[in-house]
Amino acid sequence: MIAIDMQTGKRLEGIGEYYFSQKLREIDELKKAGKDIINLGIGSPDLPPHPEVIRVLNSESAKSNVHGYQGYKGIAPFRNAIAQWYNKWYGVELNPETEILPLIGSKEGIMHVCMTYLDKGDEVLVPNPGYPTYRSAVKLAGGKCVDYKLREKNNYEPDFDKLEKSRLKKVKLMFVNYPHMPTGQLPTFRLFEKLVAFGNAHDILIVHDNPYSFILNEHPMSLLSVDGAKDCVVELNSLSKSHNMAGWRIGMLCGGKERIDDVLRFKSNMDSGMFLPVQMAATKALSFERDWHDGVNSVYKKRQERVFELLRLLKCKFSKDQAGLFVWAKVPSNYEDGYTLSDDVLYHNNVFITPGGIFGEAGRKYVRVSLCAPVEKFDEAVSRIKNPKSKI
Ligand SMILES: Cc1ncc(COP(=O)(O)O)c(C=O)c1O
Repeated sequence: MIAIDMQTGKRLEGIGEYYFSQKLREIDELKKAGKDIINLGIGSPDLPPHPEVIRVLNSESAKSNVHGYQGYKGIAPFRNAIAQWYNKWYGVELNPETEILPLIGSKEGIMHVCMTYLDKGDEVLVPNPGYPTYRSAVKLAGGKCVDYKLREKNNYEPDFDKLEKSRLKKVKLMFVNYPHMPTGQLPTFRLFEKLVAFGNAHDILIVHDNPYSFILNEHPMSLLSVDGAKDCVVELNSLSKSHNMAGWRIGMLCGGKERIDDVLRFKSNMDSGMFLPVQMAATKALSFERDWHDGVNSVYKKRQERVFELLRLLKCKFSKDQAGLFVWAKVPSNYEDGYTLSDDVLYHNNVFITPGGIFGEAGRKYVRVSLCAPVEKFDEAVSRIKNPKSKI
């Protein structure tokens, strides 16, 4: 049989397969060929959620009346729990009726915000380096990405002087993300104030993606805590990393009522609500005290020490003051870039670390190492780097 002649829509032009889906295929091939690859690439928490979260999911899903479609705005107890969580940890008041929209993770929210606001040719400021999804979501929605560089010497903060001098007329959105992935940079309150002032001055909606605020960070912060933020900010947040629930797909969008209503107009045409027991279990998760986060962070802290050791062996330079699920490090000058170091370590040591260039040109000289593997894997990776085998 000959398959029908079928072209993809123009919107997919220039949108490649996600780097990790390609690289994971290569790693799978190496594994099939008998190589035992340690994958320190992806930031998917390997630890389980709290047992109480699993208990609620089990008991709720055993009920007979919880399997139907759910409302587009999630259940009220979940929205109330989000409002209380924002108040308790970030000092932000949110109206659970009007200022919160539960999401299937922060990633879907990025797409929804782009589809809600962008017309062909509208411009969006995207961080370089930054999470690649911002770029693809903007393109899929017909918008145009305008990079703003984040440099180590500026603590990976936007250069506002340069931004002010640039043409901002067509810019509708700006993606920001602190603690920043991939650099692990923490925000300061002063930076947040500057972002809100910038958004309000230029009628730019600042989209803050905030999934890492609880990881290796004592003081979680929200961009919505700045005065006047609700006029120009929406914030995406997620239980993926903070509560080890990445596969559950549960997060939220928070902001002023009008923005939430706008995004709901798009989202309610895309999905039909979230499984009720998942929302109940997430409601439980948001009630945890600091000891939950301390427990998770003590595990990451030990792993982070091993990663520092691994990076020292590779002669990389890095800051020890990084938040989030990764360590970001500059490759030594005898390597052309992070791609060559990453390939070298993959083919000589059977360890995969992510080349920083996949997050944008400004990350080319860097690598990113994930903390999402048991500590023994890091010990093994360190020993493989100390005792390299021949090229595979
Ligand atoms: C910066 C950033 N934003 C969003 C996400 C996606 O989070 P979620 O699981 O909530 O969709 C990730 C996941 O790796 C991320 O690194």
